[in-house]
Amino acid sequence: MQDKGDTETNEVSENNTSNKTLDIDKPPENSDPIDDDTKDDKEIQIKQNLDFNFVVYNEDIVITGAKGSGKSYLANTILQILHGCSVWVWDFNHQFHDSRSIVFHDLDEMLETYDEVGKRGKYILQDYNKEEKQFKRFCRAAFKRGNVVLLIDEVHSYTTKQKILKEYNDLILSGRPRGISVISISTRPASLPNNVLTNAKHVFTFRLNLESDVKWLEGYLGDEVWQVLNKNKRQKHLELPEVPPYTFYYRNMDEPQGALGKV
Ligand SMILES: Nc1ncnc2c1ncn2[C@@H]1O[C@H](COP(=O)(O)OP(=O)(O)O)[C@@H](O)[C@H]1O
Ligand SMILES: [Mg+2]
Repeated sequence: MQDKGDTETNEVSENNTSNKTLDIDKPPENSDPIDDDTKDDKEIQIKQNLDFNFVVYNEDIVITGAKGSGKSYLANTILQILHGCSVWVWDFNHQFHDSRSIVFHDLDEMLETYDEVGKRGKYILQDYNKEEKQFKRFCRAAFKRGNVVLLIDEVHSYTTKQKILKEYNDLILSGRPRGISVISISTRPASLPNNVLTNAKHVFTFRLNLESDVKWLEGYLGDEVWQVLNKNKRQKHLELPEVPPYTFYYRNMDEPQGALGKV
């Protein structure tokens, strides 16, 4: 299995070197209401071109934020820019669409196609069966095959800090050598299992409503993440501004500082 995995990884990087590292596209012009020139000194820079380089089959991403804050919209944008690799989307609420994707409503059907037709491509799974057991099967199937980017929306439906699903945890902890990247989307960062954030290279945080969530994130992401919480809900860092709608605080965990962004 591992040998097969390695071969595929090499094949992908040889044929698609330009896709190994992906730049998130700049947002459309005028889409960001805040101009760089008008920024306050205390405010971190809002970049039109967010420096986001995602190495598929290797790195993990976490996207968090309150309901309606823009998580799935961003994830869709990331999905659009993934090319030349395999992507499986666990599309809990039927939020994903991409002209190059195939949509399935049954995991077995998806796996059959994936195994028969050629692996590369985007597979959106809007399974009729949303039960935990089915989600575990999805995770196991990915782990077994390797070399896939998994985009898992509404992961809080299955896992909490107390309730860690082995199948999902295996992907997070042991997925990398198998060429698995996990993009985890959750409304409640503080209820994500600790492994998920510690293993993520890229963390996007949209608006949050709970101070406890931000307090917890602060330990990973630094003070500036307080911008995602309305000032009237903050006990500290009232000097920091509030992020505009659909704006996220992004942190590459290998970099000393984060930045605000929007798609
Ligand atoms: N950057 C954006 N620009 C314009 N509309 C957006 C943007 N982000 C999200 N929306 C809209 O806001 C709504 C909620 O976004 P969504 O991504 O579904 O939120 P979440 O997944 O966090 O619950 C959707 O109707 C979506 O189209
Ligand atoms: Mg969503």
